[in-house]
Amino acid sequence: MSPDIDSVLNETRRFPPSAEFQARAQLSDPAQYERLYRESIEDPDAFWGRVARELPWQQPFERVLDWSAKPFARWFVGGKLNLSMACLDQHVAAGRGGRTAIVWEGEPGDSERYTYAELLAEVCRTANALKARGVKKGDRVALYMPMIPEIVLAMLACARIGAIHSVIFGGFSAQSIKDRVLDGGCTAVITADGSWRRGKVLPLKPVVDEALLGVKSVHTVFVVQRAANEIEWQSGRDVWLSELARKQSAECAPEPMDSEDTLFLLYTSGSTGKPKGIRHTTAGYLVGAYLSTKYVFDLRPDDLYWCTADVGWITGHSYVVYGPLANGATVLLYEGAPNQPHPGRFWELVAKHKVTILYTAPTAIRSFMRWGDEHVTRFDRSSLRLLGTVGEPINPEAWMWYRTVVGESRCPIVDTWWQTETGSIQITPLPGITATKPGSATRPFFGVDAAIVDEQGHEVPPGKGGYLVIKKPWPSMLRGIWGDDARYVETYWSKFGGRWYFTGDGARRDEDGYFWIMGRVDDVLNVSGHRLSTMEVESALVSHADVVEAAVVGRPDELTGEALCAFVTIGPGKVATPALAEALKEHVSKEIGKLARPAEIRFAEALPKTRSGKIMRRLLRDIAAGREVTQDTTTLEDYSVLARLRIEEE
Ligand code: PRX
Repeated sequence: MSPDIDSVLNETRRFPPSAEFQARAQLSDPAQYERLYRESIEDPDAFWGRVARELPWQQPFERVLDWSAKPFARWFVGGKLNLSMACLDQHVAAGRGGRTAIVWEGEPGDSERYTYAELLAEVCRTANALKARGVKKGDRVALYMPMIPEIVLAMLACARIGAIHSVIFGGFSAQSIKDRVLDGGCTAVITADGSWRRGKVLPLKPVVDEALLGVKSVHTVFVVQRAANEIEWQSGRDVWLSELARKQSAECAPEPMDSEDTLFLLYTSGSTGKPKGIRHTTAGYLVGAYLSTKYVFDLRPDDLYWCTADVGWITGHSYVVYGPLANGATVLLYEGAPNQPHPGRFWELVAKHKVTILYTAPTAIRSFMRWGDEHVTRFDRSSLRLLGTVGEPINPEAWMWYRTVVGESRCPIVDTWWQTETGSIQITPLPGITATKPGSATRPFFGVDAAIVDEQGHEVPPGKGGYLVIKKPWPSMLRGIWGDDARYVETYWSKFGGRWYFTGDGARRDEDGYFWIMGRVDDVLNVSGHRLSTMEVESALVSHADVVEAAVVGRPDELTGEALCAFVTIGPGKVATPALAEALKEHVSKEIGKLARPAEIRFAEALPKTRSGKIMRRLLRDIAAGREVTQDTTTLEDYSVLARLRIEEE
């Protein structure tokens, strides 16, 4: 996408916070907000230092920010802090141990509850179980788990002993797990036998077994029993986690962690090469997750908060686990699909648990719209007071539906823009302050100095599209890419000569200073709110014996935002059949995971290339979307390719 495309979206509706919402909101005074925002930009040390001091430190920090080795930031220098203490011990110590921390619903209808005191005891037992098998500070532990309370226990147990967790979303294939385990040098894996999804058991342990074939670094696979599916057992390596944990003490001293010790790795797609292990550290990450949860979701002790994201993504890390628990919230966790056993399941859960805050993704909202209002409206939603969305731009139509049908025109909507790399929400309304506009993430959060610039780095005027950059470091920013400092500098800091963080997104700002995110400017797709690199899908395709060349582009899709369209050239003597197209889709699912499965395969005799051999993706994007090709094609090496691609379309 060219960043200087003018946006065609002209949205003028505005929704100021209601007096009723403001009356109880943590932040509702515009003057107070302006003062705080100004301080956060002009005197970040004072602002962030004060926020950080609200957390329980094992040793106080000496300095708020050291930016001398730019772009490698160090926040809260010299301090020591353990995230599991902030999420658990501090609440128990303050007499809130009896408060419910997690309400869990399994897909088949089973459920569990943990108070903060119970969660602390279970985390300690799990931490001691990890230790009993030799897991220690600094070790990398891969988690491949369903949405069950044990995934939260596992993350917090790692944090407690200082092990670095690397959560791998349960939809990834064996090959993707293997790549991530090898890249991170993981020595242990935590998984479950299986998971419930759409009324069926989705096996997990068998996928891990396949992933670990030939992997020497992993000494232990901890297995949680969830679905009772049959699994194989490698004695000496595999252990039942709950059995081992049951034998452990319910106390485990939290490891003193330096502010800059790595807390976790989370892999995300880039436009080139293998997935990047985004590295987040301890104190800064927590400060970002803690403060944003508090203000963006306006959390109160009586809230029942539900973020529907899978813990395998960054949203699950920051807004299912760390942010809400650090705030002492009650969190709902749901294992299954939104339409199992019926399309009203989410709303049934909202009614049953009296959910007050709901945070979900545009792709889910569009599915609910398609399934029909009646599945929503037949359940009581009067408990809801705030709605949130994340993951991709939300179209104004879906936004309005979310507001009127789900929220009965009562609940403010926070459309939150951020990334795996940013660790926490960066551009967002504050529900008691901001007048929202459907489709806009509105204004930068505290401490976020965001701007939209052109190729030369000049700020563009209102209404004009450009590159979204962040000009100042922020506490929860990524500290690097695991094992690849050069790639970190190149990907995020080289575009504007090391001055600013480049997000990879295009955006524009309107006359009110509101941000409108226009999507990725690189070859990264956003399918159902998850980033996928075209390059990875192309590598998967060419690894199939019949394929010689492939180019993958996104085309607009009503439901998933973008859908994958693959242009494929097959080898001599191979025949382009619907069966082969199916086989290629399957092949990609197997190599990467179902989320990368192309919606469409188009066979092409040749791909359109420039004279220097670069595939002209913009052109393919137009063809995939069924648009007129308006771009300059004078650099095309072979004009007839374009004509042939068009013909194949008909
Ligand atoms: O393109 C933006 C889009 O998702 C990208 C980040 O993807 P990921 O690291 O997987 O994290 C997703 C959850 C934080 C961004 O570069 N994106 C995320 N939120 C929004 C968004 N686009 C528009 N509006 C949003 N609210």
